[in-house]
Amino acid sequence: MEIINVALGGRSYNVHIENGALGNIAALLAPYTAQKRLLFITDENVHRLYWKNIADKFLSAGVRVEAYILPAGESSKNWQKLEGICDWLLQHGAERTDHIVALGGGVVGDIAGFASAIVKRGCNFVQIPTSLLAQVDSSVGGKTAINSRSGKNLIGVFHQPAFVLIDPDMLDSLPPRELRAGYAEVVKYGLIDSAEFFDWCESDGAALLSGDSDARIKAISHSISAKAQIVSDDERELNGRRALLNLGHTFGHALEAETGFGDTLLHGEAVAAGMVLAARYSAYRGHFPAQEVGRIVNHLETTGLPARVSAIDMQTTGKALAEHMQHDKKAAQGNVPFLLMNAIGDTFLASDVDLDDVAAFLDSELAQ
Ligand code: GLY
Repeated sequence: MEIINVALGGRSYNVHIENGALGNIAALLAPYTAQKRLLFITDENVHRLYWKNIADKFLSAGVRVEAYILPAGESSKNWQKLEGICDWLLQHGAERTDHIVALGGGVVGDIAGFASAIVKRGCNFVQIPTSLLAQVDSSVGGKTAINSRSGKNLIGVFHQPAFVLIDPDMLDSLPPRELRAGYAEVVKYGLIDSAEFFDWCESDGAALLSGDSDARIKAISHSISAKAQIVSDDERELNGRRALLNLGHTFGHALEAETGFGDTLLHGEAVAAGMVLAARYSAYRGHFPAQEVGRIVNHLETTGLPARVSAIDMQTTGKALAEHMQHDKKAAQGNVPFLLMNAIGDTFLASDVDLDDVAAFLDSELAQ
């Protein structure tokens, strides 16, 4: 068992990581059930797999539980579903002192966190992430959002959870494609500032993906410790530290937008292809060694992640992709900052990138 603290003064919280923690969920959430009832937001897949077990545990502990069930998938992160969740929470008498539980992957965490932040001007919430992507990244740090016509995650607020409960055993039920997609975010923690952790990914990543529980715990605790430190240093992404966590995301979001935020390209797959583009664009600009690009491509391809844009099923142009980037949340005075790399483990925020140059680079990538 590992407990990692996210140090944010009065809004600090613990991330509890333990194989089999779900078996003890009623006791672990006891500090948040003073009202003897809990309101969960989840999705249809997670509900089918885990709800009966969870409800029985709380029933035995004398706590009433109710669940709002979203359709699975990124397309649920919209205004209409947000309204549905908020109405449901109000109809069920949610109060600010309640702890609303987000039980699911990144989509559930993002929309349930956002609903918690705005209902009655802000209720407490707890994250129980069930996907690798959510267990290593999105459940921690307080980013909440929905997508809009203009792009991904453009409507949202920072709202920190009060507690994050991670049971890596829940990954056993994750489809292999989802597991691989989440693994891209694990690799990200090596690429941004730890060459040593990237070495570990190369040596032990395959074990993680085949269900090795030590490898899972190592990857989750490394990722969450790294993220907790970054979030403590730069909670609202103001000083450049937290922006590092967006490596691959500017390119990746454009790929997701072009493929319709759906099944063609999952978020983690887009991040994988986006990280390769960030490395290749850094090499194109002359500050990243070409053989290191090869290492990243090889590792991601070995795990089955898309590492080349030309392999993604889409008809697009560099200009169309670059246009999606204009809505980037990091943009300031119309300038889109990019996460670029000097080496594996040395990512930096570049503010001098010209989108026309990015478009030309992407045209050459698409042609390969
Ligand atoms: N997933 C990026 C962040 O939380 O900042």
